Amino acid sequence: MKFKDLHTKYIGTNILHYPVLTSTNDKCKEIYKDVPSGTIIISDIQTNGRGKQSRHWYSPSGGIYLSIIIKPEKNLSKDLNKLPLVTAVALCQTLKSLEINTYIKWPNDIIFENKKLAGILCESKFKGSNLEYIIVGIGININSVLNNSDLTNIFTSLKKEFNKDFDKNYIISILLNNFEKYFTYMIDGKFHKCLKLYKLYCLILNKQVKLIKENSKEIVKVLDINENGSLKVLDSSNLIKDVFSSDVSLRGLIGYI
Ligand code: BTN
Repeated sequence: MKFKDLHTKYIGTNILHYPVLTSTNDKCKEIYKDVPSGTIIISDIQTNGRGKQSRHWYSPSGGIYLSIIIKPEKNLSKDLNKLPLVTAVALCQTLKSLEINTYIKWPNDIIFENKKLAGILCESKFKGSNLEYIIVGIGININSVLNNSDLTNIFTSLKKEFNKDFDKNYIISILLNNFEKYFTYMIDGKFHKCLKLYKLYCLILNKQVKLIKENSKEIVKVLDINENGSLKVLDSSNLIKDVFSSDVSLRGLIGYI
């Protein structure tokens, strides 16, 4: 069996694997009506992998590109801002079980040795006030070779760091086990347990960061991560405010992190 270490109740009970797709998130949008909640779409490569803020996600062979389709039974609209954090914790816990210590750049960039190893793109669709679907797209640079220097300034892969190949199906299985665990915490109102772990992995707590909002930039100090997934920051006028990831992107004072 391909995913023999998968021990979930519903996440990944239906796994659809493709050699190539434009984007696993896009495939989910095409087929969500016809598949059960918890279905996973995996592709070996993506020709139009998408990142946050409409950026491109470079998706050569060797990486993990997967999306989870959730068709919520409960109204999860108030939980949507927590989902990127839940997924980031599931990813860090998975890599930690392989003795790979990663960190999170809020809300959900996974960082290893100051470079981006994995990214998460959560998308959802409402029909009226009903949440039709949530799609959690995850890209991890596993055995990918990244040779363009523009890319390697910011991104890294496990192969590049450890000079060996990793078992992608094993990593996917552990990731889905962890995702189901932390997602269940969230829907059962126990997000605080996940947030506690998130804070341990979070790179920016008590640091100064640059918030980029359309045309403006602002330097703030990060005070905390709120229960709803937003950032609590102290701005340059000494005012405390909450910032949501849908409104800003975040940079370090000097570089990307
Ligand atoms: C980011 O950090 O900008 C998010 C990157 C998300 C990439 C993954 S790969 C699988 C899924 N399909 C996509 O087109 N994007 C996500």
